[in-house]
Amino acid sequence: MRLAGKTAIITGAARGVGRTCATAFAEQGADLVLLDVGEDIPGVPYPLGSASQLAYTAEQCRRSGATVLTRHADVRDLAALQRVADEALSRFGRVDVLVNNAGIAAPSGKTTHEITEDEWQLMVDVDLSGAWRMTRAVGRIMTAQRSGSIINVASTAGLVGYRHFAGYVAAKHGVVGLSKAAALDYAPMKIRVNALCPGSIRDDPRAEGRMLSEIAKSLDVPVAEHEETFLQSQPMNALVEPEDVAGAAVWLASDESRQVTGSVVTVDGGFSAR
Ligand SMILES: NC(=O)c1ccc[n+]([C@@H]2O[C@H](COP(=O)([O-])OP(=O)(O)OC[C@H]3O[C@@H](n4cnc5c(N)ncnc54)[C@H](O)[C@@H]3O)[C@@H](O)[C@H]2O)c1
Repeated sequence: MRLAGKTAIITGAARGVGRTCATAFAEQGADLVLLDVGEDIPGVPYPLGSASQLAYTAEQCRRSGATVLTRHADVRDLAALQRVADEALSRFGRVDVLVNNAGIAAPSGKTTHEITEDEWQLMVDVDLSGAWRMTRAVGRIMTAQRSGSIINVASTAGLVGYRHFAGYVAAKHGVVGLSKAAALDYAPMKIRVNALCPGSIRDDPRAEGRMLSEIAKSLDVPVAEHEETFLQSQPMNALVEPEDVAGAAVWLASDESRQVTGSVVTVDGGFSAR
């Protein structure tokens, strides 16, 4: 019970890494506010997490004994995020952890100058500004508490470039920068901020994640071929599992990491060590 007594807000919790973090946090004793857009976004060329997927995540967490609130909100909507943060405070009396996990992998797959302005704006608005907006929404609460842990799910795309993913790579590099700057702002208030950078994560059917397949689709290569390319570039020769990311998130959320802030924690099988 490494998170007993803590309340965590997790964005993008309907499926994938967000769902896996939610269930891992519940198993460790946390109460949860699970947020997802819960519908498709025009301009994102694949289905996003649905209302029923978010409800399923919540049901799994309640089975572990967690008290869970679910809310549909788009991380592009600051007023909606502020309402969720305020509801979390009035329901649980505190917000100890924020996991900024919501993200999109596409529109992608183009050479930099072929990206339209709308595509660029959408990517940065969700993947970078979304994390800042949610931080803005909980910052006041954590400052008043003088404690908190913010975990920003970036990517190895926040550390190195990937061909035909300039928008995603730029947004995720921004998330790493946001994490470092916010860590300095909040250190005097004992609020920690860290970036979590996973490598390519297997689309686990239990979590219903689909980002790896969507990235392969953007690059117009079969998923198996894309996975094989990644296996060759990951020294541990294995794709990252959602549980690997959730395990690191539990540690960053817990007091075991109380001196860890402004860090970039990679969960990438050694990919970025080359
Ligand atoms: N899957 C990978 O290989 C991989 C690798 C590195 C980093 N990541 C990062 O991990 C995070 C989770 O990815 P995943 O693989 O679980 O993807 P996923 O597409 O399976 O899940 C993402 C979730 O975020 C939600 N979401 C998207 N846009 C939103 C918005 N505007 N507002 C609220 N919710 C929104 C979706 O509805 C969905 O439920 C992302 O930030 C992603 O960039 C993924």
